[in-house]
Amino acid sequence: MSRSAHPAGPRHADVLPEGHYTAPPADLNALDPKVWAQTVTRTDTGEVSVGGIDVTTLAEEFGTPAYFVDETDFRARARAWRTAFGHDADVFYAGKAFLSRAIVRWLHEEGLNLDVCSGGELSTALSAGMPADRIAFHGNNKSTGEIQRAIEAGVGRIVLDSFQEIVRVAHIAQSLGKRQRVQIRVTVGVEAHTHEFIATAHEDQKFGIPLAGGQAAEAVRRALQLEGLELIGIHSHIGSQIFDTSGFEVAAHRVVGLLKDIRDEHGVELPEIDLGGGLGIAYTSDDDPREPHEIAKALTEIVQRECESAKLRMPRISVEPGRAIVGPTAFTLYEVGTIKPLDGLRTYVSVDGGMSDNIRTALYDAEYSVALVSRTSDAQPMLVRVVGKHCESGDIVVKDAFLPSDLAPGDLIAVPATGAYCRSMASNYNHALRPPVVAVREGEARVIVRRETEEDLLRLDVG
Ligand code: LLP
Repeated sequence: MSRSAHPAGPRHADVLPEGHYTAPPADLNALDPKVWAQTVTRTDTGEVSVGGIDVTTLAEEFGTPAYFVDETDFRARARAWRTAFGHDADVFYAGKAFLSRAIVRWLHEEGLNLDVCSGGELSTALSAGMPADRIAFHGNNKSTGEIQRAIEAGVGRIVLDSFQEIVRVAHIAQSLGKRQRVQIRVTVGVEAHTHEFIATAHEDQKFGIPLAGGQAAEAVRRALQLEGLELIGIHSHIGSQIFDTSGFEVAAHRVVGLLKDIRDEHGVELPEIDLGGGLGIAYTSDDDPREPHEIAKALTEIVQRECESAKLRMPRISVEPGRAIVGPTAFTLYEVGTIKPLDGLRTYVSVDGGMSDNIRTALYDAEYSVALVSRTSDAQPMLVRVVGKHCESGDIVVKDAFLPSDLAPGDLIAVPATGAYCRSMASNYNHALRPPVVAVREGEARVIVRRETEEDLLRLDVG
């Protein structure tokens, strides 16, 4: 299909239906640096480029849909987190946001640690050379096999998530003749202001051991008695896509309260606390995330204050940002296919991907922005819903946005801030082929996760 602009029919809705949008942006060609990766820019030809390469060239070489990650931006964000927390704290990148061997190498080079939550993530990390002692192993239902592999590999810590796991990990460590460093994940009873499915510190849910009713204190009692375990600290993760630090403040207060009770009961000052991840990013221009140095300062001060009043030594802090590092560094590039104006409603713009490469809109009602990136346009804005090609009416990529009304099949559009939880949650629904991840840096682009092929699908189908 050609990518030239076609004059379009009457697609601009006169009456705007209800939605998340406010008003069309003043300039549809502008790229808000809040939502686009650092090196993304519009070139003189009107095309958008990343890492010095324009999107048409990228689409020709790698196809669409595809995720393009700005390596320079990724490294800068990783470094900013590392620097913000300094030498008295550890930054564990949460691999669930997006993990590949290249990512592991970048993290290693930038001095970050890694949080993994499955045997698959663990093997990716180890195979790319992340030292095992810089890996934290998470999960609410780790298998015996996973625990054994993690201990054998020598992971720096296992985060214990239940009473049964305390015994299981101790037993496996002892049978391997090892003493495993562990943290206990607690739920502090904080209601994080985020989507219900990604809030994790209220008590009615599957993660962690509640502080309430003395359950966490009991877990500590048991862990301290078991020879296979070296209890190094307490872990709390309150949820994801959080913008204010008040939830962390309450969490830190309650976690330090537990450290104090442990000191009073056992005469032991645990040396570490982990405050988890969950810091929000800008998906649209309405979001205002905080910078790593502000977050580091706020969290450190909270813990310091709480420890001073409890007369505890300052523990070593760790954090686990995933989305805040990788999220803003990538965009998904799609080719526009069918365009369907619905009078008085909106125009449905179908792209060559959909819920198989970004499930977040369908799952969390997530908001995204979108831009025409293969050219500029002065046409008036039209209200669009960007949808995929799946057999599902909830297959929505961007629920409410504006694109120029001369949009035409063959144009390239891009959805920014898709670095986190898009490729990592991608599926083969309708036997879609999961898109590649291409790293772009200083004029060079290379595939770091290749596109799936029909042979890949058929290879799994052994019936
Ligand atoms: N640490 C722990 C223990 C976690 O469970 C998570 C995320 C993180 C760190 C990293 O959180 P982040 O900084 O990336 O928000 N699929 C959902 C998010 C689920 C997050 C699960 N745990 C989404 O797409 O929004």
